Amino acid sequence: MGKLNYHLAAVFALFFSLFELSNSLPYHSWSAQIKRQTSELLDSYDYIIVGGGTAGLTVADRLSESGEDNVLVIEYGYLDNSPAILNTGPNAFGFDSSSASRFYNISSVPQKNLNNRTVSVTIGCVVGGSSAVNGMYFDRGSAEDYDAISWAAGEDFDTWAFEGLLPYFKKSVTFHPPNERMQEEYGMTYDLEAAYGGSTPIHSSYAPFQWPTQQIEWEAFRDIEGAEYQVEGADGSAYGVFWVPNSIDPSDRTRSYSRRGHWNAVQNRTNYHLLPGHKVSRVATMDGIADSVVIVPRDGEPEESSIGVKKEVVLSAGTIHTPQILQRSGIGPRHVLEAAGIEVQVDLPGVGWNLQDHHVYSVAYNFQTDVEPNQSMLYGNSSFRAWALELWDANRTGPYSQSVGNSAAFLPLSVVSPDNGAAIADTLEAQDPAEYLPEDLDETLVAGFAAQKNAMVRQWRSTKSAILEFPFSGRPGSSVVMLKPASRGTVYLDPVDVEGEPVVDYRALSNPVDLTTNKELLGFARRFFNTPTMAQLTPVERSPGAEVASDEEIEAWLLRTLSPTVVHPTGTAALMPQELGGVVGPDLLVYGVKGISVADNSILTLLPGTHTSSGAYAIGEKAAAIVKSRA
Ligand SMILES: Cc1cc2nc3c(=O)[nH]c(=O)nc-3n(C[C@H](O)[C@H](O)[C@H](O)COP(=O)(O)OP(=O)(O)OC[C@H]3O[C@@H](n4cnc5c(N)ncnc54)[C@H](O)[C@@H]3O)c2cc1C
Ligand SMILES: *[C@@H]1O[C@H](CO)[C@@H](O)[C@H](O)[C@H]1NC(C)=O
Ligand SMILES: *[C@@H]1O[C@H](CO)[C@@H](O)[C@H](O)[C@H]1NC(C)=O
Ligand SMILES: *[C@@H]1O[C@H](CO)[C@@H](O)[C@H](O)[C@H]1NC(C)=O
Ligand SMILES: *[C@@H]1O[C@H](CO)[C@@H](O)[C@H](O)[C@H]1NC(C)=O
Ligand SMILES: *[C@@H]1O[C@H](CO)[C@@H](O)[C@H](O)[C@H]1NC(C)=O
Ligand SMILES: *[C@@H]1O[C@H](CO)[C@@H](O)[C@H](O)[C@H]1NC(C)=O
Repeated sequence: MGKLNYHLAAVFALFFSLFELSNSLPYHSWSAQIKRQTSELLDSYDYIIVGGGTAGLTVADRLSESGEDNVLVIEYGYLDNSPAILNTGPNAFGFDSSSASRFYNISSVPQKNLNNRTVSVTIGCVVGGSSAVNGMYFDRGSAEDYDAISWAAGEDFDTWAFEGLLPYFKKSVTFHPPNERMQEEYGMTYDLEAAYGGSTPIHSSYAPFQWPTQQIEWEAFRDIEGAEYQVEGADGSAYGVFWVPNSIDPSDRTRSYSRRGHWNAVQNRTNYHLLPGHKVSRVATMDGIADSVVIVPRDGEPEESSIGVKKEVVLSAGTIHTPQILQRSGIGPRHVLEAAGIEVQVDLPGVGWNLQDHHVYSVAYNFQTDVEPNQSMLYGNSSFRAWALELWDANRTGPYSQSVGNSAAFLPLSVVSPDNGAAIADTLEAQDPAEYLPEDLDETLVAGFAAQKNAMVRQWRSTKSAILEFPFSGRPGSSVVMLKPASRGTVYLDPVDVEGEPVVDYRALSNPVDLTTNKELLGFARRFFNTPTMAQLTPVERSPGAEVASDEEIEAWLLRTLSPTVVHPTGTAALMPQELGGVVGPDLLVYGVKGISVADNSILTLLPGTHTSSGAYAIGEKAAAIVKSRA
């Protein structure tokens, strides 16, 4: 399993099926625009993008498209051509000899409210970033998920509300509607006009096969009062039950990811340079203006070199590393910088604060009277498996084409918990904002959390914002994903290893309301599997199991099993006014310096109720438009 720990394996096994390992070596092909060492670079570039991930390559593609500016992307990961990255179907999420190099090796600090467990901080480390290794679930949040950022940050940030983002969501992908057979057989619906229309070669599509048990689960939500069915989720209506596409190219059913859409497709541009296998240590400033970036090779002698920047450095190193690069550049909380021996350029308390991620645990059942065919027949019935492989090999159709899942419920708190939901929102509202934050937290960050808290309360009370994600594809069980934690974590420099990985603390369940919410979600999962519609499958709970019944037993079980991350970290360079602890303004420029901006998921002040790759592409598109408009 390489560096993927047990938790992540569990997440994968739940969202997807784990198939056999694929075994192929990476190879490298070089073109004039791919640079092997800093000596091959220009002395300076108009734009330097730090991090060739999901958002970073999107920005670089757009900034280089006119041909007028020289653009350099510096990426710590390798340009990895392993087929394991592209595989879906029987070899989806396979591991090979270079798999380990595609992930960072970071563990959180022990989570004191989770029995001191540490969890793996799993993020992509390869050209393409996390989009090269993710689960390819390709949904978007509800309109309110993005509006909430402007509710918290104020009207100067209105351009980051859903209406301001939707054009970039649309631009960022090519959507492939389900064909007529899929619409008729499975009831798939979509709204091209409201949600899509772009032609960027990042593909969004549905699998041509859905399991019959899924149809029963789909119907079972009619037994849940208040659960709405949406024609489309990606137009801002991501609350209720709806079809979710995958970031898969339907022409050959391979992973569609940022490297293919924003680098391979345009790599002949002579003004678009890529330096893989190199780390950006920091940005050097001169008189408060970005002057150059300091680069260290990943392999060989760790010798530093500097490349100049003329217009702007765009940080797209992701939620875990963007704040680290800012801190190493002397931009961050004074106490963190001083502990690490870094000279303070800008005392900016919000850098690395406000880490959020979805919580996840799983419930497992047996369906004693399942319909056929069902997923377990791929393992237990060799003639069924042979037939499935034949369909896959011939036409990329059949059961093996269903490797990710295409449906989910995203439910509001009032639907999840009609009895206690209102009281949970009241509890959050009544809290003193400082009560569960670190004792010595800067007052601007406390004020910022107070503003976020008001926005969260509004979402917890709304029927148009989801607090639970419940993906289903016919498997006997589900992931239970808590979408709106009130706890806030940190990503700070390691004072004894400033150039190493940062210290990541989710501060999971530091706000006790999060445990209350998680308990309610388990209650919902059990209610769902006991609905009259689901009863026809004769579900028998395997995990947690009937013996986990009392409040104390449920709590103890959650503390043993809950993960504070479903690998959707956000928020460590938040869009907020500086007096509310923000790091970037609506123009994405970092406060207190000139010429440094942020374009990745770290800017999301509040965690949206969705998987987060679609947002990274939209942020990349919008950031590029903003950066261009400055010139
Ligand atoms: C295992 C996994 C499964 C996931 N499943 C899904 C899913 O099914 N659906 C979904 O929508 N989302 C999923 N996500 C989340 C989603 O992929 C990410 O939220 C999104 O891709 C993040 O985009 P980003 O641009 O912010 O960062 P990234 O794409 O992570 O890009 C950051 C890049 O910066 C590079 N970098 C970092 N530091 C430096 C440095 N100092 N110098 C140079 N380069 C640096 C990194 O190597 C990386 O390539 C998953 C993520 C993971 C890890
Ligand atoms: C990951 O990090 C841990 C602790 O820092 C170290 O012991 C381990 O060897 C690393 N693993 C890999 C594969 O680099
Ligand atoms: C967690 O670790 C701390 C510090 O080592 C210790 O005081 C505490 O008792 C531990 N908690 C649990 C639940 O093990
Ligand atoms: C890039 O240029 C090479 C060599 O001229 C050519 O073979 C290739 O098709 C071009 N690729 C793209 C994507 O235009
Ligand atoms: C799937 O169907 C087979 C054959 O009818 C049955 O034995 C099995 O229990 C079913 N699988 C599940 C997960 O219920
Ligand atoms: C195996 O699957 C086939 C369909 O491909 C089905 O007809 C047969 O009954 C299954 N066998 C068992 C033992 O479930
Ligand atoms: C593949 O598709 C073709 C064209 O639709 C069809 O004729 C053929 O039977 C399919 N093959 C399999 C194995 O389903």
